[in-house]
Amino acid sequence: MYRSSIFLSLTSPTRLRESFQRFSIIPTTLALITSLFILFYISLTSSLFHQPHHTPLLLLHASSKSHPPARQFIRSSPQTTSMLDSQRPQSPALGKPPPFSGNGGVQTRNDPYLLTQNRIGSNGKTIRKEVFHDKDLFLVDYKEMNRSFKIYVYPHKKDDPFAHVLLPVDFEPGGNYASESYFKKVLMGSHFITKDPSEADLFFLPFSIARLRHDPRVNVGGIQDFIKMYISNISQNYPYWNRSGGADHFYVACHSTGRSAMEKALEVKLNAIQVVCSSSYFLSGYIAHKDASLPQIWPRQGNPPNVDLAERKKLAFFAGSVNSPVREKLLQAWKNDFEIAVHSGRLNTSYSEELLHSKFCLHVKGFEVNTARIGDSLYYGCVPVVIANHYDLPFADILNWKSFSLVVATLDIPLLKKILHGIRSDEYTILQKNVLKVRKHFQWHLFPVDYDAFYMVMYELWLRRSAVRIPLCGSSLHSVQQERNMSKCT
Ligand SMILES: *[C@@H]1O[C@H](CO)[C@@H](O)[C@H](O)[C@H]1NC(C)=O
Ligand SMILES: *[C@@H]1O[C@H](CO)[C@@H](O)[C@H](O)[C@H]1NC(C)=O
Ligand SMILES: *[C@@H]1O[C@H](CO)[C@@H](O)[C@H](O)[C@H]1NC(C)=O
Ligand SMILES: *[C@@H]1O[C@H](CO)[C@@H](O)[C@H](O)[C@H]1NC(C)=O
Ligand SMILES: *[C@@H]1O[C@H](CO)[C@@H](O)[C@H](O)[C@H]1NC(C)=O
Repeated sequence: MYRSSIFLSLTSPTRLRESFQRFSIIPTTLALITSLFILFYISLTSSLFHQPHHTPLLLLHASSKSHPPARQFIRSSPQTTSMLDSQRPQSPALGKPPPFSGNGGVQTRNDPYLLTQNRIGSNGKTIRKEVFHDKDLFLVDYKEMNRSFKIYVYPHKKDDPFAHVLLPVDFEPGGNYASESYFKKVLMGSHFITKDPSEADLFFLPFSIARLRHDPRVNVGGIQDFIKMYISNISQNYPYWNRSGGADHFYVACHSTGRSAMEKALEVKLNAIQVVCSSSYFLSGYIAHKDASLPQIWPRQGNPPNVDLAERKKLAFFAGSVNSPVREKLLQAWKNDFEIAVHSGRLNTSYSEELLHSKFCLHVKGFEVNTARIGDSLYYGCVPVVIANHYDLPFADILNWKSFSLVVATLDIPLLKKILHGIRSDEYTILQKNVLKVRKHFQWHLFPVDYDAFYMVMYELWLRRSAVRIPLCGSSLHSVQQERNMSKCT
């Protein structure tokens, strides 16, 4: 009956159009459903929507030269929350950064694989025993880096008027910004150096910001122009800068003046890899993921001292000038406390003794997010408490900072004592043991020792090397002269 009535209705022309319209809904709906299925399928399989689960496998590709990764690196989530303030533990996301992280790179992925690994403690605290995000992966990749990574350094003569800025220093670096000079000095004597630009993975821009700053011909005001001139020089005299706009170039700077030094050479800021101590991803000079954090280390000779845990009687220690709102807040909250010792003037006691006899040592943002205090506390076996929002911590894509430090948000300064008392003694023991494990990564040596600060920085660079070696309009070029000739072919 029904069928025949439809059939009958089709016989009238107006009716026909109406029912045709009604029928056309069906294919449209079908098409819609199909599209939804396709989208759903893509979302399941594509990394655009989804983080890969087998990150270690993906990262292993990073070590094969034949399929080099497109700037692939591990990131830990930004360290802005204290260990204790989150019920839901934050995963130090290991893996590729999401391609489009609209929230400023803040990763919220909770990877069950990571969360169940090496964790101790209850109630959602995230102290982990393992100091590496993935030790096996790191060791394999490190070996490959050590074997094959090659750096070309722009050559400068000893009689260059800026030789002292461009060449490594001929003394043992010291002081607050030593990391900058140490890196260059050790690199230049290392097996990573190649004289053949065609086999280089990265190109080193050897200027020293700290030395420029003290050059009366340049001074702080002239640094930007110097860098601009320098880049213009090398981009005219060599073909390597232009082929990638500087993307396979890097410089290393510990002095914070470096942050604005690239303002007249924007390509350096936007394309090159900046390895810097003031690595705040809140400020525009530093681009997280592309750039890397250099640890600020006051170099010390010899083996670091050890004291019995029982001798760490003081709860927490800080000394430093009050040069920032964060330090003011710290002083306000704790200056008269007898458990949290906060010194703003000259110390009467020895700095190293304080670090040796405290459980926790505070690193508090001053002018910059970075100071040498983290290196100091690690050296003296004190668990660092990092109070510096937006600090992209050194080696955070290799080391799990939550295994050997506390990261406390500025907002939580009034809760500091509660947070520190909240760490059980077995948890503290693990943190402190891990401090002793990681401190070798925060030490410089004139003759580098495997896994020391120099090798760790090299590894950070290795993770950021370009995927593609852009040919100079031709393949297998060898001599510089030939390359120069070839560069005219475009
Ligand atoms: C790295 O290379 C140096 C120099 O060739 C070598 O002495 C060192 O043992 C290597 N380290 C590792 C872990 O391969
Ligand atoms: C650039 O090159 C010119 C000429 O070779 C030289 O005088 C000048 O010092 C160089 N400047 C920099 C910043 O390298
Ligand atoms: C690189 O590009 C700059 C600006 O476009 C140009 O002045 C320079 O000659 C180029 N260098 C080479 C080696 O072609
Ligand atoms: C340092 O010593 C002086 C004199 O001995 C004393 O007045 C001052 O309070 C001490 N300062 C601190 C921070 O202990
Ligand atoms: C490069 O070009 C110059 C002349 O412009 C020529 O004399 C020289 O032989 C060329 N070198 C190579 C390696 O082709």
